[in-house]
Amino acid sequence: MAYLSTIDFFEDRSFLDRWKAAMKGDLDLSWMNAATEQIECRPQNPRRGLTFRDLDVGSYGFSELPEVVRKNRTFAPRGAELVDGLPDLQPEVSRKSEVWAYNIEGYYEEAMTRQWNAATDIAWHDLAKYDVPDEINRAFAQLCTFLTEVEMIATDVPAKWVGKLSPDFFEVKNFIATQAMDEARHAEVFRKRALASGVGLMKASPQNEWSLKQLRDADSFAEMSVGLHLAGEGFVLTLFRFSEYISPTDVDKKMFRLVMQDEARHVGYGMQHLKWVIDHFPEKREMIHAHLDEVENMLFGGGYATEVTESFIILSGKGLKKQNIEQGVRITAQFQLKQVEEYFERLDKCGLTERRRMSKLANAMELTKAMLSEMGVAA
Ligand SMILES: [Fe+2]
Ligand SMILES: [Fe+2]
Repeated sequence: MAYLSTIDFFEDRSFLDRWKAAMKGDLDLSWMNAATEQIECRPQNPRRGLTFRDLDVGSYGFSELPEVVRKNRTFAPRGAELVDGLPDLQPEVSRKSEVWAYNIEGYYEEAMTRQWNAATDIAWHDLAKYDVPDEINRAFAQLCTFLTEVEMIATDVPAKWVGKLSPDFFEVKNFIATQAMDEARHAEVFRKRALASGVGLMKASPQNEWSLKQLRDADSFAEMSVGLHLAGEGFVLTLFRFSEYISPTDVDKKMFRLVMQDEARHVGYGMQHLKWVIDHFPEKREMIHAHLDEVENMLFGGGYATEVTESFIILSGKGLKKQNIEQGVRITAQFQLKQVEEYFERLDKCGLTERRRMSKLANAMELTKAMLSEMGVAA
């Protein structure tokens, strides 16, 4: 019945006759006997309400999904009766191992309960109470420009993939949709912060954008997810914590605390996904390392671009005088070491402990440590 797509419904006799008959009260009612399970789901925990976990029942559930979902290639929700004539949507991602994560059903629910509003949850009016020096204002506006750039691509990437996933991966699709929304809010809040600073936006970063473009162009969901959820957003999570620490005002500290909440959830999915893949498909290890080689190159190029490194030096040293810059360099170098260390710790937790020995980031961090020791600072 693929011909359905070519039917002119305004002219089709059988369609029009059936519609007219229904409107005269002559009902077909065949849908009343859908060949589906009759169930009644109730919240296990009334405080949480009716969750995806409560719906994990029989043909509606997610626990028993096979590695390759072949049956449903349509928009039909998992558990509905599949009839002839449904369109073939040719979903690109039909392997569970490409998308699944431990506790996948919890990430969407958490996202829904922790939404916030960039227009009203930030005390924008209070910014006027702070007398921020010009160079700090400019450095912070540059940081917000860089972060807006990052968050815009972080919105585009999950949004690009959501429609390519099999409809049977419902819990993943919904989570990815909340992620796109979270990232859109992050782009909003950083843009608003730059425009509220009295400076406006600063420079776009070619190095950052070429790196991010690699994420957008990833060939598979698995490659994208290692790059975005685990590595990229992991780096960003440490960066947000550092940015909170060096923020010029309490208004900004709150902004970073709010974006961190969301980012931690995205990284949580990335880690639980990688862990799931390594536990169930250890043979994919080599492929994951190949992805990480590319991703680390991207992180180093984008995250250590001039525009962001120098903003951090000025913000953490609190100025442009020689002693400020020296202090800023020391603090920024320690942040970079922490960022890479936390990245390796995340991979350790996923069972990829050998990455520390293989990564070029580790070499870059040796350089940083050597520079710190020349300055007489312990790493
Ligand atoms: Fe984000
Ligand atoms: Fe994120």
